[in-house]
Amino acid sequence: MGFRVAVVGATGNVGREILATLAERQFPCDEVVALASSRSIGRQVSFGEDDILDVQVLDNFDFKGIDIVLSSPGAKVSAVFAPRAAKAGAIVIDNTSQWRMDPDVPLVVPEVNPDAIKGYAKRGIIANPNCSTIQMVVALKPLHDLAKIKRVVVATYQSVSGAGRSAMDELFAQTRSVYVNDPIKPEVLTKQIAFNVIPHIDVFMADGSTKEEWKMAVETRKILDPDIAVSATCVRVPVFIGHAEAVNVEFVRPITEAEARKALRDFSGIAVVDHRADEGYATPAEIAGEDLVYVSRIRKDPTVTNGLAMWIVADNLRKGAATNAVQIAELLCERYLDRKGRVTAGRRIAPALT
Ligand SMILES: NC(=O)c1ccc[n+]([C@@H]2O[C@H](COP(=O)([O-])OP(=O)(O)OC[C@H]3O[C@@H](n4cnc5c(N)ncnc54)[C@H](OP(=O)(O)O)[C@@H]3O)[C@@H](O)[C@H]2O)c1
Repeated sequence: MGFRVAVVGATGNVGREILATLAERQFPCDEVVALASSRSIGRQVSFGEDDILDVQVLDNFDFKGIDIVLSSPGAKVSAVFAPRAAKAGAIVIDNTSQWRMDPDVPLVVPEVNPDAIKGYAKRGIIANPNCSTIQMVVALKPLHDLAKIKRVVVATYQSVSGAGRSAMDELFAQTRSVYVNDPIKPEVLTKQIAFNVIPHIDVFMADGSTKEEWKMAVETRKILDPDIAVSATCVRVPVFIGHAEAVNVEFVRPITEAEARKALRDFSGIAVVDHRADEGYATPAEIAGEDLVYVSRIRKDPTVTNGLAMWIVADNLRKGAATNAVQIAELLCERYLDRKGRVTAGRRIAPALT
């Protein structure tokens, strides 16, 4: 007896990783439905070692009887389909930016704010944070518990998989073009990404920051503490999978490197790799495919009172998206649903249940 699960955006980078993660973690599903756009009619996707799923079209799919939806079809699509799925009785765990800052939608990282999940009852939607936010708040949480964070300055080094399949294809094609001396014409990203870095992710805001930078600030405050100031610079780099972040943290009270290292080591979901020697730190290429958040280069920041600097790396498609979403689903089932998808605690607002 398991759940009926739908994966929306199943042909995309995140959707395929969600299917793989559900299978690897043996999420208790009786049925898994793969949904994408009409462009994917006739396509199939793998689920686990043995199963192949026919992709169905989202537009005319009836969500009645579906317990949980894990979705990543882009914000505009999510804006339309998620309320429809919730109305039909499903609980939607959404990876897009559409619902994250809605006050009636919880924004959850299970290691950081698991109790926020109870807010799912308001709209039947739970939001998965931005990939860069997730890995940062996992590393900040044990430090915030220790010494209360005042301010964070972060520069990201974000892989092209964060911009979808087409951006990965663009990096591959441009790299080849450089070697064979073909002209380079950026189509998905704003400038040449092969052998280059681009300080521009998502659209520009009125104050000169980008929306990705804004997301890191407001999401961190919603998940961790509304009083934390965050200054972010988000940069796309020519890496296929894995985001890295150089983070400087300012605390309210003094914190030693040893205290910070111990708190990070003891925290669920973090691996500290910090040997101050060749190879003694994590890089994206080494941790692709892993679920943990890696913290390296932990050291004092002597330029501010009570400062600490560190390097945080995680797989943006795993902990930055699929793993976090499946962990939310696991928590939801453990706390609020029985194996038939029925609500056992809290209240779901779907018409069938109110
Ligand atoms: N990549 C990351 O690191 C990451 C992390 C966190 C959150 N996200 C978010 O997750 C979303 C997807 O990212 P991605 O990297 O998986 O993108 P992607 O590789 O481009 O995949 C997009 C998916 O959405 C589907 N889709 C697009 N338009 C649709 C429509 N009208 N109806 C139904 N399905 C539709 C696509 O189906 P077709 O194949 O049929 O076009 C595909 O399955 C984005 O909102 C992104 O911001 C991404």
